[in-house]
Amino acid sequence: METQWNVRSAVAVIGLAFACQMPVHAQDGSTVRGMAATCANCHSAESGDSRSIPAINSRDRGALLQQLKDFKSGARPATVMHQLARGFTDAQLEQLATWFANAEKR
Ligand code: HEC
Repeated sequence: METQWNVRSAVAVIGLAFACQMPVHAQDGSTVRGMAATCANCHSAESGDSRSIPAINSRDRGALLQQLKDFKSGARPATVMHQLARGFTDAQLEQLATWFANAEKR
């Protein structure tokens, strides 16, 4: 399936980006920024663009966090998010939920 392949390539590219970013962002705030930038590769601030990935900025923090935890635990089936969510600690998921809940156009 073409979509599946595109998502896989995206994950591969993002994995690379992560590997490059991690050592640079030693400070806390910039670490969250780096993680959030990874998410923004797929979740653009403008909803309704050609990709069928929902925008996640300016959402309720608790709701975002719950979704991320459900992806991580497998409670919510997903194509890519369950894989991604497992790569983060619960503390990092909380940081990401806070970041995107406060983000307007990121
Ligand atoms: C490779 C592309 C990709 C990346 C990177 C990505 N997502 Fe997603 N996200 C998706 C897709 C696709 C879905 C729809 C569920 C699924 O099929 O996995 C989704 C769904 C979600 C949802 C549920 C939204 C809803 O309304 O149902 C949340 C929340 C979310 N992602 C948060 C994040 C966060 C936080 C990050 C960064 C850690 C992130 N995503 C990184 C592709 C991505």
